[in-house]
Amino acid sequence: MNTVTIITKKRDGKRLTKDEIEYLVKGYTEGTIPDYQMSAFLMAVYFSGMDREETIALTQCMKESGDVVDLSKICGVKVDKHSTGGVGDKTTLIVGPVAAACGVPVAKMSGRGLGFTGGTVDKLEAIPGFQTAMAEADFISQVNNEGIAVIGQTGDIAPADKKIYALRDVTATVENLSLITSSIMSKKLAAGSDAILLDVKCGSGAFMKTEEDARQLAELMVDIGEGSGKKTMAMITDMSQPLGCAVGNALEVMEAIDVLKGGGPEDIRVLSIALAGAMIYLGGKAKDPEEGKALAEQAIANGRALEKFKIFVAGQGGDPEITEDYGLLPQSKIRMPFLAREEGYIQSIDAMTIGLASQHTGAGRETKQDEIDLSAGIVLHKKAGDQVKKGDAVCTIYGSDVKKTEKALEEIQNAVKIGLERPELPALIKTIIER
Ligand code: URA
Repeated sequence: MNTVTIITKKRDGKRLTKDEIEYLVKGYTEGTIPDYQMSAFLMAVYFSGMDREETIALTQCMKESGDVVDLSKICGVKVDKHSTGGVGDKTTLIVGPVAAACGVPVAKMSGRGLGFTGGTVDKLEAIPGFQTAMAEADFISQVNNEGIAVIGQTGDIAPADKKIYALRDVTATVENLSLITSSIMSKKLAAGSDAILLDVKCGSGAFMKTEEDARQLAELMVDIGEGSGKKTMAMITDMSQPLGCAVGNALEVMEAIDVLKGGGPEDIRVLSIALAGAMIYLGGKAKDPEEGKALAEQAIANGRALEKFKIFVAGQGGDPEITEDYGLLPQSKIRMPFLAREEGYIQSIDAMTIGLASQHTGAGRETKQDEIDLSAGIVLHKKAGDQVKKGDAVCTIYGSDVKKTEKALEEIQNAVKIGLERPELPALIKTIIER
């Protein structure tokens, strides 16, 4: 087999065989195919696309490039939830304890944030003492005993994806349906769960800007999950403005606890209950997602979900007292409000711009090596559709460095649009895809 021939075939819009895809993925992972040839191949895929069979083959090869986690020692139906990435998305911190409180074992591996999207591992590490690294035996026993554990990725899950994703990031080849699908699903299929719930974001703060693109991605991912023998469901949800009000690690932990206490902003509460309901259904504890939602609501209302969160935090070395005293979480020295310069209705709060501004406060990384400021970020006091008067605080920026905080404040000027008419808001949950 010859690498140039395979690149040429894809450049000319032809279909590749499973063997050709395997040859490329294996060769690149092992280092016999150099970055420049893989870059050319990825750009050819970007322009020529891949069909379903090619995408399935690429996903399988990437999954098989590393460890496949064995969760069979955990009793019950293990359901993994994955979000394609967004701004202010702290749903794992909420739906994990809610699903666990309803009897669904949650054995989850999560990632760190990069760029304008946050990561669950960073958010959890804002909790004093919380350990996101755990020996496999401890992980399994915490899930069997307490019902929930969330750790950073262990072992060598889909190393081909790690290498290819890093290359896509610097060669402008991230936004391709087959490449995104194979990247996400190779890791999900290797993570060992029995069922998968996908939260596919669409809007300015998501990879997929339009509902149609998000639908195509969701359908392909569901097909690949189902084709690999795992019950898979997807929800297409809005990411045109940040989810909830808090963006930034410790700030998001506080908001997640508010939701577990029955409060918090409406959008994050509604989405978390819908996702938890779907997890409870996929985990076999409800006859349909609607019944799952009712069980999720009950678990929040009767305090069992918050209790489960405390047990989960304590089980991983964290201080459960944070639920009663947010002052125990990292606190920023600097707080700068952004004030409305005119009156009217908030037309939109651009998720991507807020995500980037939050990253620039120190809450996110630009490179994998960057240290993050766990206390930094942005809290919105108004959301799209809200009425404002001139001088009202639209949001507050939290940070530890005056220059960074001022830069974020400047960027936010472009994120918030105010107009005279009350705007039509996009639906939060657009479609549910289940085969
Ligand atoms: N998340 C991933 O893991 N991979 C992608 O390609 C996009 C989002």
